[in-house]
Amino acid sequence: MKLRFPLTALAFLLAAQFPVTGFAAGGKKLEVFSWWTSGGEAAALDALFQAYRKADPGVEIINATVAGGGGSAARPVLQARLAGGNPPDTWQSHPGWELLGQYVAANYCEPITDIYQSEGWDKVVPKGLIDLMTKDGQTYAVLVGVHRGNVLWYNKKVLQKNGINVGDKVTFDEFFAAAEKLKSAGVTPLAVGDSGIWASSQLFENTLLGTVGPQGWTALFNGKMAWDDPKVKQAAETYGKMLGYQNSDHSALTWDQAVKAVMEGRCAFTSMGDWAYGEFAKAKLKDNEDFGWVAHPGTDAAFIIVADGFTLAKGAPHRDECVAWLKTCGSKDAQEAFNPLKGSIPTRTDADKSKFGPYHNWSMTAFGSAQLVPSVVHGEAAPAAFQQALNDAITTFVVDKNANNLTQALVQAAKESETAQ
Ligand code: BGC
Repeated sequence: MKLRFPLTALAFLLAAQFPVTGFAAGGKKLEVFSWWTSGGEAAALDALFQAYRKADPGVEIINATVAGGGGSAARPVLQARLAGGNPPDTWQSHPGWELLGQYVAANYCEPITDIYQSEGWDKVVPKGLIDLMTKDGQTYAVLVGVHRGNVLWYNKKVLQKNGINVGDKVTFDEFFAAAEKLKSAGVTPLAVGDSGIWASSQLFENTLLGTVGPQGWTALFNGKMAWDDPKVKQAAETYGKMLGYQNSDHSALTWDQAVKAVMEGRCAFTSMGDWAYGEFAKAKLKDNEDFGWVAHPGTDAAFIIVADGFTLAKGAPHRDECVAWLKTCGSKDAQEAFNPLKGSIPTRTDADKSKFGPYHNWSMTAFGSAQLVPSVVHGEAAPAAFQQALNDAITTFVVDKNANNLTQALVQAAKESETAQ
């Protein structure tokens, strides 16, 4: 398996510019690396820091963030630091391939299996999630929350004004009928902010799942369905049709600016993981009043997991502080403070549901009943090289709208990842 991230001089430069929060009392420090910089993300991260400060006061927290949704800008910076022997104490990672293939295989992480035992996490975190972070019997990260990737968000008032009713699920036909209606009323139906291409890849990922279903999803990743299967082509065509309804300034916007376009009624829908919820919450908008949501068309029976974990660096400069940080991340209190702001749900099954509003309760119910599938766009389902190839193929597709080229690129990428493993 190859790592494609370039170790550029720019990456080193960015790595030197981390802002510092808090005060150094007694010289204790902790460096936390993440890409949580949007309004909702930063607020949620701050709630984690506050929980940590309660547990371990007087530690100076070095908040090492690198802006860019989905971590596409942060990961190259992190790679440069890890390869250069200058790791942060802990960094944000998705479980699955990203954690195990990029960081554990390269020997950058210390196992934290003993913390799972001492904190009793093995009893309250679903085994399926722990398995995604475990290799040869050792577990390498603690999750703070689980996002649902396949959510279609909408501006309630805009839809009401245009006589559009969204039920508890939508089909692609229903979505396109609504989009046509909105378009003829002069409203941009779909907000996309793909200045980071991953956001458009995510629209494709959600549409692919809505077309092949959760069984098809599993088949694609275990090699039982080919990437040029007619259903994948059909998904590409449906995705292409959706792009016909997107905002013309999509490539100039970030994902959260696209969410803002929905909040402000400039666009009606956006298909985005439920970190979008964090933006609505930060703007003090109300669940089911100002904004609504439904699973992305065709995906109501499935839940794309996009989970956020933190690691313990091998050779962490502040190991004790980092262990305390990880214990905070896995605690009930921290998860109940962080997730309402972030949009994700706690990984702990003993979290108090009454502390969460309508959106989170919807997501928790779906997590318990829908089929859980990993995300490619967020590094869980496939090696980094395949994730990158998908982003490249989507960059091309946005321009040429050629479903054959897209599926051929994916066939080729799947072949290359197999031989590279
Ligand atoms: C992360 C989320 C984050 C989103 C947008 C995803 O990869 O898992 O925590 O909010 O990217 O930046």
